[in-house]
Amino acid sequence: VDKETIDVGERRKTIKQLAQMKRAAQPIAMMTAYDYPSAVLAEQAGADIVLIGDSLAQVVQGHTATASVTLDDVVYHTRIVARAVRTPLIVADMPFGTYHGSDDRTIDHVVALVQDGGAHAVKMEGADVCDAVRAAVRVGVPVFGHLGVQPQSVHRHGGYFVQGKTLHDAEQLREDALRMQEAGACAIVLELVTAHVAQAITEALDIPTIGIGSGACCDGQVLVFHDIVGYDPLPHRPKSFVKAYAAAADVMRDALKQFVQDVRSGAFPSPSHAHAPSEEEKR
Ligand code: KIV
Repeated sequence: VDKETIDVGERRKTIKQLAQMKRAAQPIAMMTAYDYPSAVLAEQAGADIVLIGDSLAQVVQGHTATASVTLDDVVYHTRIVARAVRTPLIVADMPFGTYHGSDDRTIDHVVALVQDGGAHAVKMEGADVCDAVRAAVRVGVPVFGHLGVQPQSVHRHGGYFVQGKTLHDAEQLREDALRMQEAGACAIVLELVTAHVAQAITEALDIPTIGIGSGACCDGQVLVFHDIVGYDPLPHRPKSFVKAYAAAADVMRDALKQFVQDVRSGAFPSPSHAHAPSEEEKR
């Protein structure tokens, strides 16, 4: 039995287990991670899934939109996360423009995320990409769909608005979710969908739904790592659907200020932080 078999069979969360969790009404916990420390912390917290989200554009790279993220960026961050975690399923976001061309091109990009990055599954936004979902599934890679607010096409929608408010939109979303399931998606992220519609979709699907800003009736929840721990050093408008469980930026800023102050005052380093000369050096 090789290491990878043990890894998948005994410890790593599997797609099959996620489906079982839905059936057992056992909520699925998913969070983003982008680097070694955030991924280790996600694993230590017991996350079922870590997502290398293209939200890395905003929270890591300082961009204003996810469309700036490249395939190389996601491969790079996925590789780091894969090095850090053993139990959560690793899902990599397919960046803007990498799954909208031919099936062959999509497969090349999926293979890069799996082979070079170490992802176990990929995520694709929108209901117009069912062919890409089929292509990835055909080569054996599970696909998470992403419906509701789709940050990669934010300009088409004109902003980040709650989806599913009209009867027509609600029905469209439900149909889109069923089409993605039919195409072979193994789960669907529902971003900023009314709670009512998210519940209806969750009940209509056999595969799990993972909500973000979509109420309590999804099969699981996902949030961005930086939002969970309050690691946002600049004052931004708070997102109504986010619960910050800590104020990491404040803790870190205070520590850094204290360091600067101690260097300037001479309080750091103290004798205990310096190395005493050895007996030989003293002679
Ligand atoms: O990119 C991301 O982090 C995401 C989550 C918000 C679901 O897609």
